[in-house]
Amino acid sequence: MDALELLLSRVSMPALTEPGPTPEQYQTMVQAAYRAPDHAHLQPYRFLRVRGDRRYDLGKVILDVMLARDSDLAETQQRRLLQNPLRAPEILLPVLTPKEHPKVPEIEQVLSLGGAVNNILHAAHAMGIGAMWRTGLICYEPALAQGLGLSGDERLYGFIYLGTPVGKNKPVARVKAEDFLSDW
Ligand SMILES: Cc1cc2nc3c(=O)[nH]c(=O)nc-3n(C[C@H](O)[C@H](O)[C@H](O)COP(=O)(O)O)c2cc1C
Repeated sequence: MDALELLLSRVSMPALTEPGPTPEQYQTMVQAAYRAPDHAHLQPYRFLRVRGDRRYDLGKVILDVMLARDSDLAETQQRRLLQNPLRAPEILLPVLTPKEHPKVPEIEQVLSLGGAVNNILHAAHAMGIGAMWRTGLICYEPALAQGLGLSGDERLYGFIYLGTPVGKNKPVARVKAEDFLSDW
């Protein structure tokens, strides 16, 4: 796909089914991630992959965290939390692994992670893989990081759902440059 056409046509794909990406496609997506701008080349993030039955385990971890916050959670909400990871065959969890650096504050490392996720979304799109980046407030719960086995200073920045798109892409919303661009 032409590079500009790729950038201008990516959309999030909420409805995803089997199969997930191949090992070769993961190579490409992860390599694309680490081509994002990265001040001082700190590589301040890593990715956890959740697929197959591990998605049920992820659902249970999420439910436990939410129940610890609110033990009266309605049955329907509990079921929804358990089932959320089943929305796609595979999920990539971007994890910030912040590094101490005199010239690179943590915000720059978070920005770099955002660029890396964006590269994954575009690489997926280029290969016909559907993808959607979600967070939800649960994402920032320290108990969830703990339940996932992250180390003390690591933080979760969402869930990238990956799979084969179901149905047609939604129409692309395109802005007018002049609405967001002005001379200073
Ligand atoms: C950091 C981040 C977190 C997001 N979390 C959610 C989410 O939890 N639920 C959701 O429906 N969309 C979420 N979105 C938005 C979708 O990923 C998507 O960008 C949005 O639905 C617009 O669709 P588009 O990507 O096709 O333009 C998030 C986006 C970002 C950048």
